[in-house]
Amino acid sequence: MTDVEIVNPVPVDESRAWLAALSPAFLDQSGGDLFDRMAERWQREWFPNRTWGARAGGQWVASLTTSPRSISIPAGLATTTDVEVDALTEVSVSPTHRRRGIMRSLMTESLRSAKERGEPFSILITSQWPIYGRFGYAPASAYADYTLLTGGRGGWLLGPSGSGSIRHADPQSLGAIAPAVFDRVRRLRSGGVDRRDEWWPRRLGLNGYRPINPAGLPNYYVRDGAEGPDGLLWWSGTRGFELNGDLGAVQVGGLFAATDDAYRDLWAFMCSFDLAGEVRIGNRSTDEPARWLLTDGRALRQTYAGDALWLRLLDVAAALSARGYATTDRLVLDVIDNDADGFGQGRFALEAGAEESSCEPTTAEPDVRLSQRALAAVYLGGHTLRQLHLAQPVDELTPGAINRLDLMFTTSVAPWNATMF
Ligand SMILES: CC(C)(COP(=O)(O)OP(=O)(O)OC[C@H]1O[C@@H](n2cnc3c(N)ncnc32)[C@H](O)[C@@H]1OP(=O)(O)O)[C@@H](O)C(=O)NCCC(=O)NCCS
Repeated sequence: MTDVEIVNPVPVDESRAWLAALSPAFLDQSGGDLFDRMAERWQREWFPNRTWGARAGGQWVASLTTSPRSISIPAGLATTTDVEVDALTEVSVSPTHRRRGIMRSLMTESLRSAKERGEPFSILITSQWPIYGRFGYAPASAYADYTLLTGGRGGWLLGPSGSGSIRHADPQSLGAIAPAVFDRVRRLRSGGVDRRDEWWPRRLGLNGYRPINPAGLPNYYVRDGAEGPDGLLWWSGTRGFELNGDLGAVQVGGLFAATDDAYRDLWAFMCSFDLAGEVRIGNRSTDEPARWLLTDGRALRQTYAGDALWLRLLDVAAALSARGYATTDRLVLDVIDNDADGFGQGRFALEAGAEESSCEPTTAEPDVRLSQRALAAVYLGGHTLRQLHLAQPVDELTPGAINRLDLMFTTSVAPWNATMF
């Protein structure tokens, strides 16, 4: 790597050239109108100290950046609380400079910075499964895609709630409502990453942004309940209908319901497209309850399910103290961390409860010995140690301790993150 210079911070006036190195790595263009829109967006949300790059011969050949994000974590069986974490993204190395340790250098520096800032864990969404385990990340939540078959597949069990109404909205009015409604929805499950600052204006083409989607804006709707707006929905037609009776298709870009009635009404709305035979909705929770609202539950097909957020604990005591638990119990965990700088290594006494919990270093005899990756995978409540022990080091040193730990960490609904970053 003698010809390669690792750079941090990266000043904002380098953002366009930095982006031009990163775009081809993600199969995007490094010029043209779409690139210009992306570059504008990056210039307005740039964290120089949290951005790394590598230069060779004066040209950018690698990128990495992180942002501070709020994420919901369990606060007991069915509620959540927020914690501020490190969100890693845009990790790329140009094809001309791969497999000579550049990503490893950037990752090492970035994780050390997050640890120094005191962020309890780091999250990411990975392009490929095999990349990030070596840095201590583990899949901690999942997402699913669904297709709702409408025409001729029975219908809606209960019908709309009757407690509110749905109205068509323009981007401006949606932009005024969406941040608050989305934030309520995000906190209903663990693993929900915030959409702060520029997220909504950028997506909706407000505040001087040009919409990123060249195909045009979707159709936006707001649901009003007794106490004000509590639901958001937007969709685009993806296949037209034919006069021979063939029905079209609709893609839902977002559906966010802050109350049960809003959820019922927005899904009822999705059954109401006369001219669409199927409604596709992606990036949802794996336990979407809409099926229970249909007269024919098989009309809702889960077409894909896979890993979503990956999580790496940087401070085990802080991360486990910040959480609430489904049961009241005390266990000593011996955490083995052989990845990156081994930030998670240590023995910890976890005093778990729904409202009050603590986790502190201890020298007491451990009840469970497990890898940091296994702990990261169960942290949001999306997996159990009973599943993970097949592949990860998870040793039960006190009989029954794994079941007790699984019960502590369990949540009544699956974690879900709707925000790409
Ligand atoms: C993934 C990528 C950033 C790797 O960069 P790199 O500089 O070649 O990686 P390094 O040389 O530092 O490799 C570090 C380790 O990761 C491994 N690795 C790198 N890319 C990998 C991949 N795609 N799959 C599996 N392992 C990978 C290396 O083999 C090496 O392993 P080792 O430490 O056990 O020897 C680069 O290939 C890339 O830009 N890919 C396209 C964009 C992308 O998918 N980025 C990730 C976004 S989430």
